[in-house]
Amino acid sequence: MRAAVMRRVGGPDVLVVEDLPEPLPGVGQSLVDVTLAGVNFDDLERRNGDHQPLSLPAVLGVDVVGRRRRDGRRVAVLLRDGGGYAQVVAAEDRHSIDLPDHVEDDQASGLTEQGCTAYGALMLAGRLRPGEAVAVSAAAGGVGHLAIQLALAYGANPVIGLASTAAKRELVTELGAHRVLDPAHGDLGEQLREASGGRGVDLFIDSVGGAAARSALDGLAPFGRLVSIGWRAGDDRSGDRCGPIQVSTEALTDRSIGCAGFWMRHVVEDRQLLCRIADELFDLSKRGQLVARIDRIVALTEVGQAHVAMAARVTAGKVLVDVNRER
Ligand SMILES: NC(=O)c1ccc[n+]([C@@H]2O[C@H](COP(=O)([O-])OP(=O)(O)OC[C@H]3O[C@@H](n4cnc5c(N)ncnc54)[C@H](OP(=O)(O)O)[C@@H]3O)[C@@H](O)[C@H]2O)c1
Repeated sequence: MRAAVMRRVGGPDVLVVEDLPEPLPGVGQSLVDVTLAGVNFDDLERRNGDHQPLSLPAVLGVDVVGRRRRDGRRVAVLLRDGGGYAQVVAAEDRHSIDLPDHVEDDQASGLTEQGCTAYGALMLAGRLRPGEAVAVSAAAGGVGHLAIQLALAYGANPVIGLASTAAKRELVTELGAHRVLDPAHGDLGEQLREASGGRGVDLFIDSVGGAAARSALDGLAPFGRLVSIGWRAGDDRSGDRCGPIQVSTEALTDRSIGCAGFWMRHVVEDRQLLCRIADELFDLSKRGQLVARIDRIVALTEVGQAHVAMAARVTAGKVLVDVNRER
């Protein structure tokens, strides 16, 4: 089979398409012939060596869609240890989701890893209630654009999206957000209070960390929650360092606010929860309330270029790899 393999950490050029033997399925695993593999921001950080060390050589990619060889069923698979940028994966059956006919492969790919993350951040960690004011960082991104649509579907009001360029802000407006903010434009806490009628937001979904997350805490209403789903390495547009932040319980108590985190692993490891969330997302998709925007589908040999585009922050929505196409 063909796969984009990395034999050392480094820039996008470390991803090289090679022939590899097909994986051997273990107990509880099935071979899946992949059609599309998702690219996630974490893949870039793993490739750079900024995130969870890899044992090399490695194949990146944590979400794929394809056909299970055993029964020909169309499935989406979440791969906790990577391996997705390849024509064949050995999928854990308990991490595979059977796809209903109405969900196309590209939509399924958008809705599983990133859709479940958006759901988990809003509904499980964030405990969103209808009528609450919600703000989402990187709102045009793979997770972010689904979080905006889900917040609307679950009755949040206002729904506020943050995005760094005019084009991305326009997209977030088209998704239905009530307000769209440029996080680099002045004090974010003040912007959040202004956009929520002076109260502050009830829920802030943070994927950047650093100064933006600290300002977002200032922009929470009493009983408001900040949910962290990750953070960037490096600097944001204002030149401030991103990364995880330290929060004192005293600061939380003083303002009756809370911080929580969400990690997909805890959904993937709970089969019932994973299937329940996937069913809910597929149902919203059927009703037209949740659409994964596909930014681009690149050939397997172009996956490095997809990483470059994501790192340059020019992608909006889901980035996919057609693993059966080479240029
Ligand atoms: N917790 C989990 O289980 C889980 C699962 C999946 C993803 N995630 C996290 O969710 C976040 C979004 O992931 P994604 O795959 O959907 O990526 P993405 O949102 O499509 O891309 C990342 C976006 O982050 C923003 N950003 C802010 N500061 C940045 C910086 N210094 N460098 C680069 N980008 C910066 C950019 O949007 P702007 O230009 O608009 O600021 C960029 O487009 C990531 O933090 C990822 O780690 C977490």
